[in-house]
Amino acid sequence: MRFAEIVLAGMLACEAACLAGQAPELRLPAPQRDGKVSLERCLATRRSVRAYRDDALKLAELSQLLWAAQGITGGERLRTAPSAGALYPLEVYVLAGSVEGLAAGIYKYRPERHELVRVAQEDRRRALAEAALGQQFIAQAPAVFVIAGVYERTARRYGDRAPRYVHIEVGHAGQNICLQAVALGLGSVTVGAFRDPEVKRVVGLADDESPLYIIPVGRPR
Ligand SMILES: Cc1cc2nc3c(=O)[nH]c(=O)nc-3n(C[C@H](O)[C@H](O)[C@H](O)COP(=O)(O)O)c2cc1C
Repeated sequence: MRFAEIVLAGMLACEAACLAGQAPELRLPAPQRDGKVSLERCLATRRSVRAYRDDALKLAELSQLLWAAQGITGGERLRTAPSAGALYPLEVYVLAGSVEGLAAGIYKYRPERHELVRVAQEDRRRALAEAALGQQFIAQAPAVFVIAGVYERTARRYGDRAPRYVHIEVGHAGQNICLQAVALGLGSVTVGAFRDPEVKRVVGLADDESPLYIIPVGRPR
């Protein structure tokens, strides 16, 4: 009985927080595991896209892109992209500016639950564009992915080879986002030119998270 009361109190507290818009976690719609556009077409037509229409992204599109980057596909932990020793050193953030059903802000992706956790409430895309040497298309994309790497996670097993492995892995995840974007009729560009400490501060990365890639995504103009 006591246990039931505690559970009920917890549920009510959670519901109240959700209603007040305070719940930091957001379950994403389930990703599609099949689609109408062939892999060959995605490969043949992918181009860097740096100009986006004003339209918002759908939450289902954001969900699909996150899943493509690091979603769980095998058992409880294996993911869409390969990882040395299945150690998964990458963390994916999204700066949402214009996504239907998602307040503007910065979110961290939790692959295990296919959910987002809000880590900041402001729209910081302009600050991110400045940190990326003033590349303004970053501020104009409805959603901007930032992929960070935790080198220590891989170094514990692979020592000096960790930076190499983590950099290879961010390439896998980045390419997955780019190809998934094409399959959804969206455009993306991979950005590597930025000042690391500034990106770290703007996104609010943890001390051990190093920013590796910025990938704005939107509907091609
Ligand atoms: C590691 C890496 C870093 C890149 N950095 C930037 C960048 O900072 N800004 C940018 O506009 N494009 C950047 N690009 C995109 C390249 O300019 C683009 O891929 C190249 O011109 C080939 O064009 P495509 O992607 O349309 O095939 C980068 C690409 C890679 C792989």
